[in-house]
Amino acid sequence: MADDYQPPALPSPFTHTKPAPILLAQGAEAHVYKTVSLDPSIPAALKIRPSKPYRHPILDRKLTRQRIIQEARCLVKLVREGVKVPAVLALDWEGQGGDEAGWGGAWLMMEWIEGPVVRVVLEKWEAWMKVNRSSLDATRISQEEARVRGLIRRMGSAIAGLHKAGVVHGDLTTSNLMLRTEQVEGETLSMDGEVVLIDFGLASQSTQDEDRAVDLYVLERAIGSTHPLSEPFFEELLIGYKEGNKGATSTLRRLEDVRLRGRKRSMLG
Ligand SMILES: Nc1ncnc2c1ncn2[C@@H]1O[C@H](COP(=O)(O)OP(=O)(O)OP(=O)(O)O)[C@@H](O)[C@H]1O
Ligand SMILES: [Mg+2]
Repeated sequence: MADDYQPPALPSPFTHTKPAPILLAQGAEAHVYKTVSLDPSIPAALKIRPSKPYRHPILDRKLTRQRIIQEARCLVKLVREGVKVPAVLALDWEGQGGDEAGWGGAWLMMEWIEGPVVRVVLEKWEAWMKVNRSSLDATRISQEEARVRGLIRRMGSAIAGLHKAGVVHGDLTTSNLMLRTEQVEGETLSMDGEVVLIDFGLASQSTQDEDRAVDLYVLERAIGSTHPLSEPFFEELLIGYKEGNKGATSTLRRLEDVRLRGRKRSMLG
């Protein structure tokens, strides 16, 4: 991507925000900014779904609106059910401009989660392990592995809570799980703290074992490809999942089928 990339204009309520919102992430679908809520001391995350100029304007507005409302609806429901997700602070599905030209998409402002995404935590840990493993004794290595196991287990119980609330995520990766924790520069990488689920843009309401098993499978594959040293601990995720959801047996049985289908597909190329 070119260095002079210019993100789409901010929706009008945020053009005068001081300090100006900081762009954190730009996906194909959304831009996420760090900003402040009504009170400048309250940080907030702002997710903007820009309009897509190549789509017919009426269709574009309809799809963008559906996505953002869907995401907000899931978050509101999950907060109410006590699942750890960011609370919704504000929402505008008409976005900037309304009916006039310059429609800028829809936006969702939510609670700011302080801490890294799990992807970063595991990447840092794996990099550190690669360098230091040979100088560590067996006790220390198992202590280190226990920290990762603990984190992965908590990820499993967070997902169990989500599924029990009747929602499947649709895009579970280690980038869509955050760890609410303070990382102090120069100190040991913290793996303590609460696992918070984010990014419900592809979530849906479902209690089907198939959908739940696919959620777990997608995450298993994501961990396998991005975190090779942590992959052997995936079983912990399923232990955490079972602890958090007593009725998990049928979902886990289904996961076996989903895995088998996945293997067949990759054998066929
Ligand atoms: N509530 C939040 N608090 C802090 N950081 C957040 C929050 N929500 C998102 N982020 C940061 O922004 C990144 C992107 O957010 P998110 O995953 O929701 O968007 P996306 O993947 O671009 O969206 P989509 O897949 O719906 O198009 C996250 O990986 C995380 O680093
Ligand atoms: Mg994401």
